[in-house]
Amino acid sequence: MSGSMLYGGDEIGALVFDVGHYSLRVGYAQEDSPKAEIPAVVGVVDDPNNATTIRSSDAMDVDEKKTDTTPSNAGKKYYIDTTTLHVPRKGMEVVSYMKDGMIEDWDLFEKVLDYTYAKCIQSESEYHPVLMSEAPWNVRSKRERLTELMFEKYNVPAFFLAKNAVLAAFANGRATALVVDSGATHTSAVPVQDGYVLTQAIVKSPLGGDYISMQCKQHLQDNDIEIVPSYLVGSKEVVKEREKPRWTKRRNLPDVTTSWHSYEVKRVVQDFQASVLQVLETPFDEKTASAMPAAHYEFPSGFHQDFGSERFRIPEALFDPGVVAAGNTMLGVGHIATTSVGMCDVDARPALYASVVVTGGNSFIQGFPDRLGRDLSARVPASVRLKTMSANGCAERRFGAWIGGSILASVGSFQQMWVSSQEYDEGGKGQIERKCP
Ligand SMILES: Nc1ncnc2c1ncn2[C@@H]1O[C@H](COP(=O)(O)OP(=O)(O)OP(=O)(O)O)[C@@H](O)[C@H]1O
Ligand SMILES: [Mg+2]
Repeated sequence: MSGSMLYGGDEIGALVFDVGHYSLRVGYAQEDSPKAEIPAVVGVVDDPNNATTIRSSDAMDVDEKKTDTTPSNAGKKYYIDTTTLHVPRKGMEVVSYMKDGMIEDWDLFEKVLDYTYAKCIQSESEYHPVLMSEAPWNVRSKRERLTELMFEKYNVPAFFLAKNAVLAAFANGRATALVVDSGATHTSAVPVQDGYVLTQAIVKSPLGGDYISMQCKQHLQDNDIEIVPSYLVGSKEVVKEREKPRWTKRRNLPDVTTSWHSYEVKRVVQDFQASVLQVLETPFDEKTASAMPAAHYEFPSGFHQDFGSERFRIPEALFDPGVVAAGNTMLGVGHIATTSVGMCDVDARPALYASVVVTGGNSFIQGFPDRLGRDLSARVPASVRLKTMSANGCAERRFGAWIGGSILASVGSFQQMWVSSQEYDEGGKGQIERKCP
């Protein structure tokens, strides 16, 4: 044994990081929900006057000793987290550090970690073991690079990488489950057996929250509804439903970039989609959808109207991609789930169908879990026991993987699973593959 039991218990709190394309969730193990949720994009401004340091007073005030001044960072300012990111700034580009569910831009990710320790955790990284989530398809080189970063730069006493699907299953009290995760960039079905991902049976599609945002944006544009982000609106008047909005532009706005403007537009669309969209319990048909109550929505410009059948048609694409674009051959959520189970051993299937865990922010579209349950029962034989579960509370579902991590890191028997700094020193970054399969 490595003696890593020392890190367990209450004296020193382990930290849990859940990385995603939409946000990074971070907080202490054993707590019910993350301490902070930080957008997974960074505002970057070229700053020739700041050629030797990346330090910037109002964006992030990180510890000097952790500030690296490699040439690629020279002359840039970074704006992290909602309060600074949403301020219009001349030349600020919005850049993501994620790609395909994995960390891609390591410099930016480090900036965010620096910020997290300094501003959210407000404690030294060397005191806290870190459990981090990863996509089930994360690759060895990236796992090792992250391990190296955590031990070499942040001097963590212990580190562990856990698949986000496994953590989401744990959060629902299951070690065996089919985890259906609909996040920002994709929807995936991941079979988990006794706490391990059955890698060969992962099925994923690019239909997630971002795709729905795109469809909403298109629909609004097609209907001549201009999406004006809040930052542009100086004042507005009350107008009647569907009346042209009367608003004035905020004055003295700096020259913002297209990427930042688009990001602000997307936030409006995301609010619209969370407030208005709903999935029908049965496959979409115009008649049923028109008979359902409409949803009223007001945009930051003051424009407001009822949304009727379209509020069901748009998210139908998740379950039946052909509805939005004819000839679309991408798989709907139900199909993704059954395909995944179908790729597992016959003996493993009943247990997976008996625990279908629905997680991810996009599964918050009203009616999502019910519709998945209904689609699954239409697809699997009646003799199969089917149970879908989705946490009702907002935090429990949106932060499913984080909560699973919070639970796992506090379990007594987990304490020997950490890769300790001693093991890292002796065995190197390869230890991560050995201890975190
Ligand atoms: N209440 C809601 N209703 C509908 N959609 C929502 C709601 N809350 C969040 N979303 C959508 O969920 C998505 C974010 O989900 P989540 O936080 O699971 O993503 P992530 O894990 O960061 O990203 P990814 O899984 O793609 O790496 C966004 O597209 C957001 O618009
Ligand atoms: Mg996710």
